[in-house]
Amino acid sequence: MESIIVTQGLSRAFANTQALDDLNIEVPRGIVFGFLGPNGAGKTTTIRLLLGLLEPTAGSARVLGFDTRTQADAIREKSGALLEHTGLYERLSAQDNLDFYGQVFRLSERERKLRIQELLEHLGLWERRTEPLGSWSRGMKQKVAVARALLHRPALIFLDEPTAGLDPVASASLRDDLAQLAASEKVTVFLTTHNLSEAEKLCGLVAIVRKGRLAAFGAPAELRGQSGGERVEIFGSGFDAGLVTALCARAEVASASLRNAHLEVELRGKAEFAPVLAYLVGQGVAVEEVRRGKASLEDVFLELVEDSNEKTDSPQG
Ligand SMILES: Nc1ncnc2c1ncn2[C@@H]1O[C@H](COP(=O)(O)OP(=O)(O)OP(=O)(O)O)[C@@H](O)[C@H]1O
Ligand SMILES: [Mg+2]
Repeated sequence: MESIIVTQGLSRAFANTQALDDLNIEVPRGIVFGFLGPNGAGKTTTIRLLLGLLEPTAGSARVLGFDTRTQADAIREKSGALLEHTGLYERLSAQDNLDFYGQVFRLSERERKLRIQELLEHLGLWERRTEPLGSWSRGMKQKVAVARALLHRPALIFLDEPTAGLDPVASASLRDDLAQLAASEKVTVFLTTHNLSEAEKLCGLVAIVRKGRLAAFGAPAELRGQSGGERVEIFGSGFDAGLVTALCARAEVASASLRNAHLEVELRGKAEFAPVLAYLVGQGVAVEEVRRGKASLEDVFLELVEDSNEKTDSPQG
């Protein structure tokens, strides 16, 4: 089966910014795909290109098998979107907002009734369906916006930073709902986020973009694996600068540094920690505790983004 999204050299320039530069990705059906990147990386531009709301300056993309340049109407009909503005009416209730969009999507009255009840019940908002949205919390409004994106049972939805501006509790609640809905509705989700732990929890596949260019693509676990070796924190006494220098010279060690009371060591590739520990003990270090862990997606992200900052010519204004 063809991938649900395929881009080939997709690019978009504005007057003096290359917002997206030669993006080549394929998103398979049925997954939550995370599109990650710092501010200004080109995430929203990519969603607008994929929805055919913006013309590429080079390259092309197919979404649901349709060309974004010539078949944007079909794409927008068969997909749902939650963009930066939710497009909800504050004076209308949740039910009336959804009913309005149901009509836009030409659902029958009966279909609208059943579908709205199903979604609002799922999101725990059915009891409050007749209250005007104006008085609701941001988290609740975002849930209605998600319901709106899913209303016409699209095969694909785009969510542009759905949890931005929500407190941790509201974010977690929306995240849980998204995970459940993605599974029960069998919808493919294209999600942008700044929250790396969110991506780690929700996404089967992620892309990291920086300055319009693809910096990494893969399953979160795969990307964590690519980010060098294991990180080890060693607590104890007897550390000094000479020891750090000696550690850095060892074949197993990619980097070592002294942090307050502990030593932090990043191993190279698949290097073992045991010889490093033996060396430390041999040097008279009294080891009290060793904490070992793989890099998180956040570590990978920061590594890639910090890399790019070194090559940045001028800061984004
Ligand atoms: N309509 C436009 N006109 C001119 N420049 C634009 C336009 N839209 C986006 N850009 C520029 O393109 C780049 C990418 O913007 P985009 O909004 O896609 O980033 P983003 O990854 O969504 O960022 P954020 O995380 O802040 O939402 C930025 O440098 C931005 O200033
Ligand atoms: Mg954006």
